[in-house]
Amino acid sequence: MSVGGAKKVHSARSRIHIHPSLEGASWIRKLAARRELFSGGALLDVTVQVASQIGLWRPLIRHTTEARWYEALVLSDALELWLIGWAPGQATPIHDHGGAAGALTVAGGHLVETVHRDPSLAQPRRIIHAQGARASFSPYHIHRVANEGAVNATSIHAYSPAGLEMRLYDDSVEARLVADGNVATQR
Ligand SMILES: [Fe+2]
Repeated sequence: MSVGGAKKVHSARSRIHIHPSLEGASWIRKLAARRELFSGGALLDVTVQVASQIGLWRPLIRHTTEARWYEALVLSDALELWLIGWAPGQATPIHDHGGAAGALTVAGGHLVETVHRDPSLAQPRRIIHAQGARASFSPYHIHRVANEGAVNATSIHAYSPAGLEMRLYDDSVEARLVADGNVATQR
């Protein structure tokens, strides 16, 4: 599936979920109603805007030591918008996003992203995303994200199109837990 700013999602029935706490925000409803796919830059803008609205996500965020915590803020055909809480030591497996473009903004704490150029996983590149940092990525992005700090981290993630399955690239403990359905699969 190609991703482009003007490309529209074609489906027989549009499915839209907005977190009940956000239904009163007209700009959130407008994002959820958009039918065109979002570019990486547009996703970046969305995550930055949500992160800046502290009163919007702070009442919702949770951090649990059992597993990475996540909550869908918006799920439509064109957009997935997630709030994610990372306790110290929590990490994703190495994964891609199934062909979706994506973006993240760190709203609290900091995250370490390890980016892989291709599925061979050679020459990984390590990026530290401090509070306020933001990044967008292409549909071909392969990475692992971790909270390597001593305090909780919070991040906002957006993907377009929605509903594509992440693909795993390693046999780490995190990947085995995801494969067994014992831990969060949200990217
Ligand atoms: Fe990811």
